[in-house]
Amino acid sequence: MALSTGSKKIKTAVFISGTGSNLKSLIIFSILKSSPISINLIVSNNSKAKGLEFGKIFKIKKKIFDFKKKNSAEKKILLELKKNEINFICLAGFMKILSKNFIDNFKGKILNVHPSLLPKYKGLNTYKRAIANKEKYSGCTVHFVNSKLDSGKIILQKKVKIKKNETEKSLSKKILTQEHKLYSRAIEKIF
Ligand code: GRF
Repeated sequence: MALSTGSKKIKTAVFISGTGSNLKSLIIFSILKSSPISINLIVSNNSKAKGLEFGKIFKIKKKIFDFKKKNSAEKKILLELKKNEINFICLAGFMKILSKNFIDNFKGKILNVHPSLLPKYKGLNTYKRAIANKEKYSGCTVHFVNSKLDSGKIILQKKVKIKKNETEKSLSKKILTQEHKLYSRAIEKIF
């Protein structure tokens, strides 16, 4: 398998808030020679995000921004993105809602992964709500980000069966495994 950090790849920032398992699979994807992206920056609102350790392991620059003052955090992020010549953003478990102004600066260049079959179950607690509604299927979606929460154009989705005794924990685990594959496939699809 050919690996490269590639100078001609699309410079990408990944935004995280927590575990960063999607970040990890995106990094592994990005170092394949055939990948259209390189990951040059990790952005987080949470200095304790476990996923930040991948910055160290893979020697990727990471930056933490305090979202208590969202406007100023976003301004600082935009400057940092410019400084690092970033022109593509992957949200991966990023738990803050970006403003319309921020999104307009990267129109059509921000993706997100969401643990449901959108347009169903936007927002939080997707597993709980899908199980409570006795859905037969749930899944995950990779979509473009626009200024409406979890409402941008869908790129790819993967269905997952909800079993009789499914718990939030078992469902989230199954969906997360699919997210890891779907995100890279969605990136391949759009470039
Ligand atoms: C994923 O399920 C993602 O869809 C949701 O938050 C979770 C993040 O997981 N928005 P991780 O931090 O990538 O492990």
